[in-house]
Amino acid sequence: MSQEVYAAPWKKIAEGWQKLGIGNHPSPHDVDVYRRFLMDAVRGEDRPNVLLLGATPEIRDMLAEYPEIEVTVLDVNGEAIRAMTSFMKEKPVNEKQAVGDWLFFPLPEYTYDAVFGDQISTNVSFENLDTLYRRIRAALKPSGYLITRITSHFPDTRIYAPEELIEKFSRIPPSKESFTEFWNLLTFFSHRNPVSTTDSTFELLEAHLDVSHMKEYYAMTAEIFSRGKPWNIGRPWADEKRIIERYFAIADKEQDDTFFKDSTFIFCLKVKQ
Ligand SMILES: C[S@@+](CC[C@H](N)C(=O)[O-])C[C@H]1O[C@@H](n2cnc3c(N)ncnc32)[C@H](O)[C@@H]1O
Repeated sequence: MSQEVYAAPWKKIAEGWQKLGIGNHPSPHDVDVYRRFLMDAVRGEDRPNVLLLGATPEIRDMLAEYPEIEVTVLDVNGEAIRAMTSFMKEKPVNEKQAVGDWLFFPLPEYTYDAVFGDQISTNVSFENLDTLYRRIRAALKPSGYLITRITSHFPDTRIYAPEELIEKFSRIPPSKESFTEFWNLLTFFSHRNPVSTTDSTFELLEAHLDVSHMKEYYAMTAEIFSRGKPWNIGRPWADEKRIIERYFAIADKEQDDTFFKDSTFIFCLKVKQ
Protein backbone atom coordinates (compact mmCIF):
# COMPACT_ATOMS: atom_id res chain seq x y z
CA MET A 1 0.00 0.00 0.00
CA SER A 2 1.38 3.43 -0.90
CA GLN A 3 3.03 5.68 1.63
CA GLU A 4 0.52 8.48 0.91
CA VAL A 5 -2.49 6.48 2.17
CA TYR A 6 -0.82 6.07 5.55
CA ALA A 7 0.40 9.62 6.04
CA ALA A 8 -1.91 12.08 4.22
CA PRO A 9 -5.07 11.41 6.34
CA TRP A 10 -3.18 12.86 9.31
CA LYS A 11 -3.94 16.35 7.93
CA LYS A 12 -7.56 15.81 8.99
CA ILE A 13 -6.79 13.78 12.14
CA ALA A 14 -4.42 16.52 13.35
CA GLU A 15 -7.26 19.06 13.21
CA GLY A 16 -9.42 16.87 15.46
CA TRP A 17 -6.53 15.70 17.66
CA GLN A 18 -7.78 17.41 20.85
CA LYS A 19 -11.07 15.50 20.53
CA LEU A 20 -9.11 12.31 21.28
CA GLY A 21 -8.03 11.47 24.82
CA ILE A 22 -5.11 9.65 26.39
CA GLY A 23 -4.29 6.45 24.66
CA ASN A 24 -3.92 8.29 21.37
CA HIS A 25 -2.14 10.98 23.34
CA PRO A 26 0.66 9.65 25.56
CA SER A 27 -0.53 9.70 29.19
CA PRO A 28 1.33 11.49 32.05
CA HIS A 29 2.75 8.06 33.00
CA ASP A 30 3.98 7.54 29.42
CA VAL A 31 5.65 10.97 29.50
CA ASP A 32 7.38 10.08 32.80
CA VAL A 33 8.73 6.92 31.16
CA TYR A 34 9.82 8.91 28.08
CA ARG A 35 11.67 11.29 30.43
CA ARG A 36 13.41 8.43 32.25
CA PHE A 37 14.58 6.89 28.97
CA LEU A 38 15.69 10.35 27.74
CA MET A 39 17.88 10.79 30.82
CA ASP A 40 19.59 7.44 30.08
CA ALA A 41 20.17 8.48 26.46
CA VAL A 42 21.65 11.96 27.02
CA ARG A 43 23.70 11.30 30.17
CA GLY A 44 27.15 12.91 29.84
CA GLU A 45 26.27 14.99 26.72
CA ASP A 46 26.55 18.81 27.00
CA ARG A 47 24.45 19.59 23.92
CA PRO A 48 22.38 16.48 23.21
CA ASN A 49 20.74 16.13 19.82
CA VAL A 50 17.25 14.67 19.65
CA LEU A 51 15.13 13.89 16.59
CA LEU A 52 11.37 13.58 17.06
CA LEU A 53 9.48 11.65 14.39
CA GLY A 54 6.00 13.16 14.31
CA ALA A 55 5.07 16.30 16.22
CA THR A 56 3.56 14.89 19.46
CA PRO A 57 2.97 17.91 21.74
CA GLU A 58 3.43 16.03 25.02
CA ILE A 59 6.91 14.82 24.02
CA ARG A 60 7.90 18.29 22.79
CA ASP A 61 6.67 19.90 26.04
CA MET A 62 8.81 17.42 27.97
CA LEU A 63 11.89 18.03 25.76
CA ALA A 64 11.40 21.81 26.03
CA GLU A 65 12.15 21.56 29.77
CA TYR A 66 15.79 20.90 28.82
CA PRO A 67 17.00 23.98 26.87
CA GLU A 68 20.43 22.38 26.33
CA ILE A 69 18.80 19.72 24.11
CA GLU A 70 18.63 20.53 20.39
CA VAL A 71 15.37 19.13 19.06
CA THR A 72 14.43 18.50 15.43
CA VAL A 73 10.79 17.70 14.66
CA LEU A 74 10.20 15.77 11.42
CA ASP A 75 6.65 15.31 10.14
CA VAL A 76 5.40 14.87 6.58
CA ASN A 77 2.36 17.07 7.16
CA GLY A 78 3.03 20.78 7.75
CA GLU A 79 -0.62 20.95 8.88
CA ALA A 80 0.10 18.40 11.62
CA ILE A 81 3.16 20.34 12.83
CA ARG A 82 1.11 23.56 12.99
CA ALA A 83 -1.84 21.92 14.79
CA MET A 84 0.37 20.02 17.27
CA THR A 85 2.42 23.17 17.99
CA SER A 86 -0.78 25.00 18.90
CA PHE A 87 -1.55 22.23 21.45
CA MET A 88 1.76 22.72 23.27
CA LYS A 89 1.80 24.32 26.72
CA GLU A 90 4.52 26.81 25.71
CA LYS A 91 5.90 27.80 22.35
CA PRO A 92 9.01 25.72 21.63
CA VAL A 93 12.30 27.61 21.79
CA ASN A 94 14.96 24.96 21.24
CA GLU A 95 13.31 23.28 18.29
CA LYS A 96 13.88 23.06 14.53
CA GLN A 97 11.01 21.82 12.40
CA ALA A 98 11.25 19.95 9.09
CA VAL A 99 8.50 18.80 6.76
CA GLY A 100 9.43 15.44 5.27
CA ASP A 101 8.76 11.74 5.15
CA TRP A 102 10.59 9.57 7.71
CA LEU A 103 11.26 7.07 4.89
CA PHE A 104 12.83 9.53 2.43
CA PHE A 105 13.88 12.77 4.11
CA PRO A 106 17.71 13.10 4.02
CA LEU A 107 18.89 12.69 7.60
CA PRO A 108 22.45 13.25 8.84
CA GLU A 109 24.27 10.06 9.88
CA TYR A 110 25.55 9.20 13.38
CA THR A 111 24.11 12.47 14.74
CA TYR A 112 21.38 11.93 17.30
CA ASP A 113 21.66 10.79 20.92
CA ALA A 114 18.00 9.84 20.85
CA VAL A 115 15.23 9.50 18.30
CA PHE A 116 11.74 9.81 19.78
CA GLY A 117 8.40 8.82 18.31
CA ASP A 118 4.93 8.00 19.57
CA GLN A 119 3.37 5.05 17.77
CA ILE A 120 5.43 5.70 14.65
CA SER A 121 5.79 2.14 13.38
CA THR A 122 2.03 1.69 13.09
CA ASN A 123 2.09 4.61 10.64
CA VAL A 124 4.17 2.96 7.92
CA SER A 125 3.21 -0.19 6.07
CA PHE A 126 4.75 -3.49 7.21
CA GLU A 127 6.72 -3.57 3.94
CA ASN A 128 8.36 -0.23 4.90
CA LEU A 129 9.18 -1.12 8.51
CA ASP A 130 12.69 -2.34 7.73
CA THR A 131 13.46 0.97 5.96
CA LEU A 132 12.08 2.95 8.90
CA TYR A 133 14.16 1.16 11.54
CA ARG A 134 17.28 1.06 9.31
CA ARG A 135 17.12 4.81 8.67
CA ILE A 136 16.62 5.59 12.35
CA ARG A 137 19.62 3.45 13.26
CA ALA A 138 21.73 5.22 10.62
CA ALA A 139 20.82 8.66 12.03
CA LEU A 140 21.70 7.69 15.61
CA LYS A 141 25.14 7.86 17.19
CA PRO A 142 26.51 4.37 17.88
CA SER A 143 25.63 5.02 21.55
CA GLY A 144 22.13 6.23 20.67
CA TYR A 145 18.61 5.11 21.53
CA LEU A 146 15.25 4.95 19.78
CA ILE A 147 12.55 5.73 22.34
CA THR A 148 9.00 5.10 21.19
CA ARG A 149 5.60 3.77 22.13
CA ILE A 150 4.76 0.72 20.05
CA THR A 151 1.25 -0.65 19.68
CA SER A 152 0.90 -4.18 18.36
CA HIS A 153 -0.87 -7.51 18.83
CA PHE A 154 1.34 -8.81 21.67
CA PRO A 155 0.81 -12.38 22.97
CA ASP A 156 -1.34 -11.00 25.86
CA THR A 157 -3.32 -8.51 23.78
CA ARG A 158 -7.03 -9.15 24.11
CA ILE A 159 -8.96 -9.38 20.84
CA TYR A 160 -12.69 -8.57 21.20
CA ALA A 161 -15.67 -9.60 19.14
CA PRO A 162 -16.95 -6.35 17.53
CA GLU A 163 -20.47 -7.09 18.84
CA GLU A 164 -19.14 -7.29 22.39
CA LEU A 165 -17.63 -3.79 22.06
CA ILE A 166 -20.78 -2.36 20.45
CA GLU A 167 -22.94 -3.85 23.23
CA LYS A 168 -20.63 -2.51 25.97
CA PHE A 169 -20.38 1.03 24.57
CA SER A 170 -24.11 1.23 23.81
CA ARG A 171 -24.41 1.54 27.60
CA ILE A 172 -21.73 4.27 27.90
CA PRO A 173 -22.63 7.83 26.85
CA PRO A 174 -20.08 9.22 24.41
CA SER A 175 -17.38 11.44 25.90
CA LYS A 176 -13.84 12.18 24.79
CA GLU A 177 -12.56 9.26 26.90
CA SER A 178 -15.25 6.69 26.03
CA PHE A 179 -15.02 7.56 22.34
CA THR A 180 -11.23 7.20 22.33
CA GLU A 181 -11.36 3.81 24.02
CA PHE A 182 -14.23 2.48 21.90
CA TRP A 183 -12.82 3.74 18.59
CA ASN A 184 -9.34 2.32 19.21
CA LEU A 185 -10.55 -1.08 20.49
CA LEU A 186 -12.98 -1.41 17.57
CA THR A 187 -10.44 -0.35 14.95
CA PHE A 188 -7.36 -2.19 16.17
CA PHE A 189 -8.41 -5.03 18.48
CA SER A 190 -11.59 -6.53 17.04
CA HIS A 191 -9.86 -8.56 14.30
CA ARG A 192 -6.71 -10.40 13.30
CA ASN A 193 -6.28 -8.78 9.87
CA PRO A 194 -2.69 -7.74 9.12
CA VAL A 195 -3.79 -4.13 8.58
CA SER A 196 -6.41 -2.09 10.47
CA THR A 197 -8.47 0.38 8.45
CA THR A 198 -11.06 3.04 9.13
CA ASP A 199 -13.21 1.39 6.43
CA SER A 200 -14.07 -1.53 8.68
CA THR A 201 -14.74 0.81 11.63
CA PHE A 202 -17.16 2.88 9.53
CA GLU A 203 -18.84 -0.31 8.23
CA LEU A 204 -19.26 -1.79 11.72
CA LEU A 205 -20.78 1.42 13.08
CA GLU A 206 -23.04 1.82 10.02
CA ALA A 207 -24.41 -1.67 10.57
CA HIS A 208 -25.39 -0.75 14.16
CA LEU A 209 -26.76 2.80 13.88
CA ASP A 210 -30.05 1.69 15.47
CA VAL A 211 -28.20 0.68 18.66
CA SER A 212 -28.17 3.21 21.49
CA HIS A 213 -25.43 5.90 21.21
CA MET A 214 -23.98 4.44 17.99
CA LYS A 215 -25.15 7.41 15.87
CA GLU A 216 -23.18 9.72 18.16
CA TYR A 217 -20.09 7.50 18.10
CA TYR A 218 -20.43 7.36 14.31
CA ALA A 219 -20.66 11.17 14.03
CA MET A 220 -17.54 11.57 16.22
CA THR A 221 -15.67 9.08 14.03
CA ALA A 222 -16.65 10.93 10.82
CA GLU A 223 -15.60 14.26 12.33
CA ILE A 224 -12.01 13.14 12.98
CA PHE A 225 -11.26 10.31 10.53
CA SER A 226 -11.64 9.78 6.81
CA ARG A 227 -12.36 6.44 5.16
CA GLY A 228 -9.54 4.39 3.68
CA LYS A 229 -6.91 5.16 6.35
CA PRO A 230 -4.78 2.11 7.14
CA TRP A 231 -2.65 1.44 10.21
CA ASN A 232 0.01 -1.23 10.47
CA ILE A 233 -1.70 -2.93 13.42
CA GLY A 234 -2.94 -6.51 13.31
CA ARG A 235 0.16 -8.62 12.77
CA PRO A 236 1.69 -10.56 15.63
CA TRP A 237 4.33 -8.57 17.57
CA ALA A 238 6.93 -11.25 16.69
CA ASP A 239 6.88 -10.01 13.06
CA GLU A 240 7.87 -6.46 14.05
CA LYS A 241 10.29 -7.60 16.77
CA ARG A 242 12.23 -9.62 14.19
CA ILE A 243 12.75 -6.44 12.12
CA ILE A 244 13.62 -4.26 15.14
CA GLU A 245 16.25 -6.75 16.28
CA ARG A 246 18.13 -6.40 12.99
CA TYR A 247 19.11 -2.89 14.12
CA PHE A 248 18.38 -2.54 17.86
CA ALA A 249 18.55 -4.40 21.14
CA ILE A 250 15.65 -3.94 23.56
CA ALA A 251 17.37 -2.11 26.46
CA ASP A 252 14.19 -1.48 28.46
CA LYS A 253 10.43 -1.37 28.06
CA GLU A 254 7.50 -0.28 30.18
CA GLN A 255 3.80 -0.94 29.84
CA ASP A 256 1.39 1.86 28.88
CA ASP A 257 -1.20 2.63 31.58
CA THR A 258 -4.22 3.42 29.37
CA PHE A 259 -6.80 1.13 27.71
CA PHE A 260 -3.84 0.31 25.44
CA LYS A 261 -2.02 -1.38 28.32
CA ASP A 262 -2.11 -4.92 26.94
CA SER A 263 -1.16 -3.73 23.46
CA THR A 264 1.31 -0.91 23.99
CA PHE A 265 4.75 -0.52 25.55
CA ILE A 266 7.20 2.34 25.67
CA PHE A 267 10.44 0.90 24.31
CA CYS A 268 13.99 2.03 24.85
CA LEU A 269 15.92 0.50 21.93
CA LYS A 270 19.70 0.63 21.86
CA VAL A 271 21.62 0.72 18.58
CA LYS A 272 23.07 -2.70 17.82
CA GLN A 273 26.81 -2.56 17.29
C1 LIG B 1 3.54 9.98 15.43
S1 LIG B 1 2.12 9.51 14.68
C2 LIG B 1 0.95 8.82 15.84
C3 LIG B 1 0.21 9.71 16.75
C4 LIG B 1 0.85 9.83 18.06
N1 LIG B 1 0.24 8.99 19.03
C5 LIG B 1 1.00 11.26 18.47
O1 LIG B 1 0.81 11.54 19.65
O2 LIG B 1 1.36 12.11 17.66
C6 LIG B 1 1.30 10.79 13.96
C7 LIG B 1 2.12 11.81 13.18
O3 LIG B 1 3.01 11.18 12.28
C8 LIG B 1 3.00 11.87 11.03
N2 LIG B 1 3.39 10.90 10.00
C9 LIG B 1 2.76 9.75 9.66
N3 LIG B 1 3.47 9.07 8.73
C10 LIG B 1 4.60 9.81 8.50
C11 LIG B 1 5.74 9.64 7.66
N4 LIG B 1 5.86 8.57 6.88
N5 LIG B 1 6.71 10.57 7.68
C12 LIG B 1 6.60 11.67 8.46
N6 LIG B 1 5.54 11.89 9.29
C13 LIG B 1 4.56 10.97 9.30
C14 LIG B 1 1.58 12.41 10.89
O4 LIG B 1 1.52 13.53 10.03
C15 LIG B 1 1.23 12.72 12.34
O5 LIG B 1 1.52 14.05 12.67
